[in-house]
Amino acid sequence: MLITNIKGLVGVHPKEKLALRGSELANLPVLENAWLLIENGLIKDFGEMQSIPSSISELSSSIDTSGKFVLPSWCDSHSHLVFAASREEEFVMKIEGKSYEDIAAAGGGILNSARKLQLASEDELFESASNRLKELIKLGTGALEIKSGYGLTVDSELKMLRVIKRLKANFPIPIKATFLAAHAYPQEYKNDHQGYINLIIEQMLPAIAEEKLADYIDVFCEKGFFSVEETDQILIAGASYGLKPKIHANQLSVSGGVQIGVKHNAISVDHLEETDAAVLNSLANSDTIATLLPSCSFYLGIPFANARELINANAIVALASDFNPGSTPSGNMNFVVSLACIKLKMLPEEAINSATLNGAAAMELSDKIGSIAIGKKANLIITKTIPSIAFLPYSFGQTQIETVILNGEIYNG
Ligand code: NIG
Ligand code: FE
Repeated sequence: MLITNIKGLVGVHPKEKLALRGSELANLPVLENAWLLIENGLIKDFGEMQSIPSSISELSSSIDTSGKFVLPSWCDSHSHLVFAASREEEFVMKIEGKSYEDIAAAGGGILNSARKLQLASEDELFESASNRLKELIKLGTGALEIKSGYGLTVDSELKMLRVIKRLKANFPIPIKATFLAAHAYPQEYKNDHQGYINLIIEQMLPAIAEEKLADYIDVFCEKGFFSVEETDQILIAGASYGLKPKIHANQLSVSGGVQIGVKHNAISVDHLEETDAAVLNSLANSDTIATLLPSCSFYLGIPFANARELINANAIVALASDFNPGSTPSGNMNFVVSLACIKLKMLPEEAINSATLNGAAAMELSDKIGSIAIGKKANLIITKTIPSIAFLPYSFGQTQIETVILNGEIYNG
């Protein structure tokens, strides 16, 4: 497939650039009036229209994209896509003034989702997650991380991870699976934290390793959930099975989650709605990625992460959706990128880099996807006719995507 007359080919980073930190984030290289050739699902070559080789311009299967931009698909590195039921009753409680913690303490929240997931069959979960994933792909998501964490029993955590494994096998995008049994303490372990941690370490982890069901391990390190010491214990056990951490840190308080993540060489620490100087220090120049989830802040009405300070501190910043039924019932990465500009004061270039190359890096996929480079996967977004790339986040709440290309083929869902 050949794409011609591209108004702007966006994200043309050198292939060896695997993550962008600090001031590098503002650099989003765009090749104007370009062509792009795809072969065997990969980017084969690209260049300017004025110097397109005739052997290439004569190819029969070509798409003309005059007035349109081509960019790498969104790489969404944090989602809870597999769940049994929506939670709009909590949405109403929130409108009435209850906080996320109030709802969780009243038996809502994660435990509510866990009760429902425990009753659902693997097939039902696969079916509903597939439907959600098809919608996300149409919205431009071309790589996705999905967490467990609504099982909270040995059987149900395995069930969730098996659903993710089936999604990996059945969808044309790269998917990474993260084991998040340490998402909340089940009711029966409310006063026996060590009992649940032992269940994770002695029963869940070996079974998951045996079936190769997870790529990463996650802990919700937060007041009222998992303490720093408990997180430490779980991450040590995860490491013994080769699972690198991606941590839920500092969503509701400065929890120490960032520092414990950095100590364990986490791929990413996610959320960071609450930060202080020590947090910024620990991420400055660190290879642990700061993954920001502005849709969660928007929906819960909690503070937005301090993207500017993180960028000033020379951190690697990624953007992700956090799609889940409780704190972020939307997986729309176009909206995430808009919010990042509007609320995190990120430049459009910074936001797009964070939602593509750095998102890919937060799944250890940035050698394969997330920018326009020869040999990378041809998972691409073709926009509608738009005046500029900044128009994408500017026109919030609307999709400017005309065509989604996955592995060099038009996705029709
Ligand atoms: O990332 N913070 C923990 N986990 C999810 C919310 C889970 C839920 O409320 O169901 C999050 O926001
Ligand atoms: Fe999350």
